[in-house]
Amino acid sequence: MNKKRMLSGITTTGKMTLGNYIGAMKNFVALQDEFEMYVFVANLHGITTPIDKDILRKNIKEMVTLYFACGMDPKKSTIFLQSDVLEHTQLGWILTCNTTIGELQRMTQFKDKSTKVKSENGTEFIPTGLLTYPALMAADILLYDAEFVPVGKDQKQHIELTRNIAERMNNKFGEMFTIPGDYTPKVGSKIMDLQDPTKKMSKSGANPKGFIALLDDINEVKKKIKSAVTDSENIIKYDVENKPGVSNLLTIYSALKNISIEEAEKFFKNKDYGILKDEVSNVVVNLLEKIQLKFKELFNSDLVDSWLEQGAEKARKLASKKLTKVKNLTGLNYKRK
Ligand code: AMP
Ligand code: TRP
Repeated sequence: MNKKRMLSGITTTGKMTLGNYIGAMKNFVALQDEFEMYVFVANLHGITTPIDKDILRKNIKEMVTLYFACGMDPKKSTIFLQSDVLEHTQLGWILTCNTTIGELQRMTQFKDKSTKVKSENGTEFIPTGLLTYPALMAADILLYDAEFVPVGKDQKQHIELTRNIAERMNNKFGEMFTIPGDYTPKVGSKIMDLQDPTKKMSKSGANPKGFIALLDDINEVKKKIKSAVTDSENIIKYDVENKPGVSNLLTIYSALKNISIEEAEKFFKNKDYGILKDEVSNVVVNLLEKIQLKFKELFNSDLVDSWLEQGAEKARKLASKKLTKVKNLTGLNYKRK
């Protein structure tokens, strides 16, 4: 039986966080047997907000290595660097021309990020790419006829737009794209900031104590979890509205233990916040130690580069076929119908 195809990516705007791991990476790894996985490092998306070139280089190198250190298997999945497959930007342009400014301006991420760029840099310099980014993301997905896109909650709106663009193109020019569905994890689709648990844990979070990066020093990680914001009730219960900090710790615990929130609540019944933090710390540290060990092994070897090359080659085969079809149907390729 043919496996269904899944595709996803992570942007290189910063360090890979525990949020990225739980919301995205962990699922890519778990789904590699069941699905035909295409995952890429979204470096073209990584320049939609201003970024220093040396930092970008470092982010990309760390992220590509982390994909494998987290358990992506080059024998099972196709793993590549977005800019290595030129078709992404060509299809991205075609889709940009079939997307309206209104649609793009409605994207929550655009609104958030453009406000942030303004307030951080005190400038009106909002890169156009920040606005048009969802059209490139649509191209990433539609090039491969992905049936599912595993992402965290914050990306659902972009997948919805991708579906709209795909349907529009199919109706206007003839059947060319598979309509993708999203695939968010049951537990952990939105891991929150440890210091402000009403905000998403983010790579670019202002307070470094609020997020855990997969390559953080282990002692720092322990400290961060110890100082995570909770409340004064000392009752361990999942209640996002009234107990966002405790709920977030429960979520991290459940996701990494692969149990339901209810099971985690049962485990922590009558225990105090000290124990909750110790247990969360143990599972997180356990995970990070494993990842960091593998990361060190891979970082200075040539293996990662050769896996990426092999991945790009495989990705290009599908991508170029799809792009040719799109060019034929849209009239860009004037010799073919
Ligand atoms: P980004 O870092 O924005 O490129 O996100 C890469 C993937 O990680 C996407 O699927 C996001 O939805 C997911 N993700 C990012 N931050 C979180 C978070 N705090 N909790 C859960 N998933 C996340
Ligand atoms: N935009 C995604 C994010 O910031 C990353 C991404 C880029 C992506 N292209 C994609 C995710 C295609 C899934 C599919 O989280």
